[in-house]
Amino acid sequence: MKRVITVLTGVGIAMSSFSGTTAAAPANDLGSVVSVQEQQKIINVAHRGASGHAPENTMAAYQKAFEMKADYIEIDVQMSQDGELVIIHDNTVDRTTNGTGTVGEMTFEELRQLDAGSWFSEDYAGEKILTFGEVLDAFRGKIGILIELKSPELYPGVEEKVAEELIKRNLHKPNNEKVVIQSFNHKSMQKSKELLPSLPHGVIAGPSWANVTEEQLAEFATYADYFNPNMNIVTHEMVDDVHEAGMKIYPYTSRSQEQALRLFDLNVDGIVTDYTEHVYYHPVKNH
Ligand code: G3P
Ligand code: CA
Repeated sequence: MKRVITVLTGVGIAMSSFSGTTAAAPANDLGSVVSVQEQQKIINVAHRGASGHAPENTMAAYQKAFEMKADYIEIDVQMSQDGELVIIHDNTVDRTTNGTGTVGEMTFEELRQLDAGSWFSEDYAGEKILTFGEVLDAFRGKIGILIELKSPELYPGVEEKVAEELIKRNLHKPNNEKVVIQSFNHKSMQKSKELLPSLPHGVIAGPSWANVTEEQLAEFATYADYFNPNMNIVTHEMVDDVHEAGMKIYPYTSRSQEQALRLFDLNVDGIVTDYTEHVYYHPVKNH
């Protein structure tokens, strides 16, 4: 399949779907850019923020994603022992902070004292584990927020708490699809959809879903708007089936330009990436 790439001189242009405005963006690793007219809009999701450039799930990573003009930040929500919704990916703090311990067995005060930046680089020393509310307050209306409920089975009542925080801020209404909730735990998504019927939900699908059937997709579509699989299991057929079922597909997690290009070719709707810059420009195919 032949790519059509129109090389532009000067600064390349990328469209920001959030504001509806046109924004300048730097060229990507391809060394060339395609014209706006030839681009197919693919939603650019900054995985745990711009986590290729700053420590994941911190204010620095989210701010960087915003500055890089991603469409969404993706955030991982868990719960402290004393019931605070906190943003961290692993079930322990060991990898991404200077402490040790299990998230759900630590109080918010204990979690908050940790340094969540130094493990990545001393430049980020002092970054803190954030609350869900802090992220909503800092970024609502500025960038989309893809909220992952991480291991909700460990945190009874987490769906209700997430719903409460969103409702408190009036973010539970259809918001131009800029707040989306997703999880590997599909039962949790069914429950969340009941609590927040107007918000789009997504099912995340690990490698074991490589042979997902049309029937399974139809069942997901009764409560979900997105089927977001591991990028390694995505095929043209899967993308077509997801679209047939009336859902969108945002595979995770692209970490190279080649991986992003492969996903462009598969006609996905969005790409969850550690490197926002890989998703600025996407050549359209010559059918
Ligand atoms: O968007 C889905 C992706 O975030 C799931 O993977 O393990 O990075 O949370 P993980
Ligand atoms: Ca995640």
